[in-house]
Amino acid sequence: MEPPRPRVFPHPPLDGYALLDSGHGEKLERVGPWVLRRPDPQAMWSPGRSAAEWDAADLIFERTSDRGGDWRARGGVRVPASWELPEGDARFVIRPTPFKHIGLFPEQASNWAWTAERLEAHRAATGQDERPALLNLFAYTGAATVLATQAGAFVTHVDSSRPALRWARENADRSGLHPDAVRWIEDDVPRFIARERRRGKRYAGILLDPPPYGRGARNEKWEFESDIAGLIESCRDVLHDGPTFVVLSCYAVGTSPLAFLNLLSELGDGELEAGELALPEEDGTRWLPAGLCGRWWRA
Ligand SMILES: C[S@@+](CC[C@H](N)C(=O)[O-])C[C@H]1O[C@@H](n2cnc3c(N)ncnc32)[C@H](O)[C@@H]1O
Repeated sequence: MEPPRPRVFPHPPLDGYALLDSGHGEKLERVGPWVLRRPDPQAMWSPGRSAAEWDAADLIFERTSDRGGDWRARGGVRVPASWELPEGDARFVIRPTPFKHIGLFPEQASNWAWTAERLEAHRAATGQDERPALLNLFAYTGAATVLATQAGAFVTHVDSSRPALRWARENADRSGLHPDAVRWIEDDVPRFIARERRRGKRYAGILLDPPPYGRGARNEKWEFESDIAGLIESCRDVLHDGPTFVVLSCYAVGTSPLAFLNLLSELGDGELEAGELALPEEDGTRWLPAGLCGRWWRA
């Protein structure tokens, strides 16, 4: 039997974001009008650009402990606390946080594009005029929610964090979505799915981007390795019988794309692929690994 081949998913160019360089445990990125320099443990190699180019970053994340740190603006540069990043018709609020995140994971661009393709395939196959129902689980600041809504889906957006939900609504609002265009849910994902299952709800697609460890809205414990199999099983029960799709991604989890293939195969007959999300450097020389990803779909 031929072994399956994990792949690196393609990364479509983004309007306002580029990875300029990586190396020595850091990455250098252009995020809208600003150049940011922040830690990235995967970047174990030597940087391609000069020390002077790295030192010219507008905003630099400096670690103060294992978990946190501070952003420091280069001398004389005034970087606002937040700004807008355009992507197609969407507008995302970028806000550097003490956890080195900025409120957007640009490596998900491959999944944004693929989701739009699957939604189109769903419409073509079903011939339905109504918006396909899409579930976005662990949805964070809602980039996928906004883009999928603009691509024609009716998204149910689920996250346990109130600040993340507020941020997602802000992104939806800046992107010109009607307040009722999205179903916003503040809940623990496993608890929510169990409820949808009991109610007999069905979805055309499901996006899952869980963290390795997390907490539900009532402090329920989430641990990827022990909880993901049960969650995938629940997802199977809330999928339509017709054309459907599921995307699973996760960063910093100690598993492999093969494990993702095996997990997703439990969704039933369908196509499968798994591999890595990655960010290409602007000059096209290297790709910075940015997490695992698996996709399952049924035409
Ligand atoms: C890694 S982020 C997702 C990134 C995002 N999908 C993206 O690519 O832009 C993980 C999110 O999961 C949420 N979360 C963690 N545990 C959860 C749980 N048990 N139920 C619901 N949301 C949870 C966190 O609040 C956080 O917003």
